[in-house]
Formats: sequence, C-alpha cells, structure tokens
Amino acid sequence: MKKSSGQIKIKTAVFISGTGSNLYNLIKFSFTKKSPIKICLVVSNNSKAKGLNFANKFKIKKKIFKFDKNDEKLAIDYLIKNKIEFICLAGFMHILSKNFKNKFNGKIINIHPSLLPKYKGLNTHLRALKNKEKNTGCTIHYVNSKLDSGRIILQKKIKILKNDTPITLKKRVLKQEHIAYPLAITKLFSNL
Ligand code: GAR
Repeated sequence: MKKSSGQIKIKTAVFISGTGSNLYNLIKFSFTKKSPIKICLVVSNNSKAKGLNFANKFKIKKKIFKFDKNDEKLAIDYLIKNKIEFICLAGFMHILSKNFKNKFNGKIINIHPSLLPKYKGLNTHLRALKNKEKNTGCTIHYVNSKLDSGRIILQKKIKILKNDTPITLKKRVLKQEHIAYPLAITKLFSNL
C-alpha cells in the first residue's frame, strides 16, 4: 500500500464491537506527527459498543452496520464514498464476508490476542492457560480469506505467570496490544 504523498495521512477506518481500548490507543497515536494514518471513521456492528464514545469524544464520524447480507453493500459503498484507504479491526467480533474482504484486498489488518498461528478464534487466554503455555501475546496481521490466518506484521510476547487467570492475562496482553498496534502500523508504512 502506498501513501499518496509525504504529507497526507492514510484515510483509515477502525472497526470495533466492544470496549474500544485499542481504538482509543490508535486515535491517540493518529494524532502524533509520526503516525501515517488519520482515523476518519469508526465502524461498529454493535450500536451499544462502549468504544463508540471515543468517536464522540474525538469528533470522529461513526457508523453502525449490521454486516448482514443486505447492508454489507451499504457498508462497502459508505467506505468507498468516504475514501477509506485502510481498515484496522480492533476487537471487531464479526467475520467479514469474502466479498467485503475482496473489495478491500490487502487493506485490512487485525489485532488478535494470541501468538498466531496458535489460538485462532475465541477464548484465547483460557485455551493458552489450559495448554500450560509458557508464553502468550498478541499478533497484528493482514486479514485474508481464512480466520486469523493472514500474513503476520508484528507480534509481542509475554511470559505466562504461575498465578495468571484469563482475566489477568487479558489485561497484560491488552497492554502489549496498545504498544504493538501503533508499531505494526508504523512498520507497514515505514518504507514510504
Ligand atoms: C482485544 O484483546 C483484541 O485483541 C480482541 O478483542 C479485544 C478488544 O479489546 N480481538 C479479538 O479477539 C478478535 N478476534 P478493546 O475493545 O478494548 O480494544
């Protein structure tokens, strides 16, 4: 993906479903000079997502789509109309259709709370603990046709501690996510 000029930031949409701590973190990052992205739109499949408050707070356009067959086309048209060039999934708990992914081929990235290819899908922390893993972490990767399987951009690893529970792990991994997502985006566009 190419940035159109040295000055202009990439028009980005962040997709969320819940709390939006990654969204908040990316918004803060996007305000820095070194950020290659400008967040122009927050999209959610959940009208009650807490993270939507960050869109209000920072006066960023927000839009809800159910992403069912009928309004997926509306979502695609809306993104195109708003000239969105790049999409960051940040706790977006809906599997995008093949058609949607084809429309934005190579322009969607995701953050996942495990060291992929381990623990794709849900309940990653519980499964890592049950399997007595020594480490876990997070992964930022391109979105391709298979769930949590696209090319890895960056990972951050942490040690699993003796007393960790899914809750403590989630907290500690989230902390890493907030470091890793901006780094991954910087890395992606660093050759421009
Ligand atoms: C994050 O841990 C993110 O990695 C995960 O949801 C959480 C969202 O937190 N994403 C997935 O599990 C996607 N499969 P946030 O709403 O506070 O950013």
